[in-house]
Amino acid sequence: MKSILDNRPSLAAEIEKVAEVAGYLWQKGWAERNGGNITVNITEHIDDDIRALPAISEVKSIGTTLPQLKGCYFYCKGTQKRMRDLARDPMANGSIIRILDDCASYVIIADQAVMPTSELPSHLSVHNYLLAKGSPYRASLHTHPIELVALSHNKKFMEKDVATRLLWSMIPETKAFCPRGLGMVPYMLPGSVELADATIRAIDDDYDVVMWEKHGVFAVDTDIMSAFDQVDVLNKSALIYIAARNMGFEPDGMSQAQMQELSDVFGLPK
Ligand code: 13P
Ligand code: ZN
Repeated sequence: MKSILDNRPSLAAEIEKVAEVAGYLWQKGWAERNGGNITVNITEHIDDDIRALPAISEVKSIGTTLPQLKGCYFYCKGTQKRMRDLARDPMANGSIIRILDDCASYVIIADQAVMPTSELPSHLSVHNYLLAKGSPYRASLHTHPIELVALSHNKKFMEKDVATRLLWSMIPETKAFCPRGLGMVPYMLPGSVELADATIRAIDDDYDVVMWEKHGVFAVDTDIMSAFDQVDVLNKSALIYIAARNMGFEPDGMSQAQMQELSDVFGLPK
């Protein structure tokens, strides 16, 4: 079957990364049923032939107006589609959308009319915010990492940077590779514009990874692999914490002095 990815190696490479990450999400147990979603701003890989492609869906409303996204293109996981299926066939379990000139609606242009994720308002609002800031980040990931979600069931860990400090202190790599820590967003209805707005406020507060209380995380980075890596290191720390608790003790964590030394040597913020 013909695909928009045919003879477009740079675009195909981006979508291959999405498929690879989708497989990891399933293997980790973070992607039950249709759980989680991915969007990637692929505008830089779009050529004139793609710009001329007709819509294969009717015009759909985003639910909000996002001025930075005029004429942008995104790969989006399909709503109700499984990550484990997307890993095998990304263009049958997701689609490419074009944002229309009103900045409030979109059409699907390829390969099939797969409706984008129900979390589209959050994803696109965050991409709009990133472009407005001049950020090089092009990918966003929402997933349900078991141990991080479990942490968010305790009010103590929902307080600002309590979980961040705990997770950073479990193993040096976590602060090195997730230097902005874990932002916290109180429970809100999945897919709502309110959740999208709260996610942007948290990212603007200087986080790359944000916890949606009792639901999952939302992460942004330059590409989807890097967004996944940030969630992976945070969840690894949560697993170390739980392993220590299961051995019957509260882990010491790295000392303040050790954390400070790490930040100084690696030039890390906070
Ligand atoms: P979608 O199948 O619509 O992407 O929803 C999955 C999800 O995790 C919602 O929060
Ligand atoms: Zn979810």
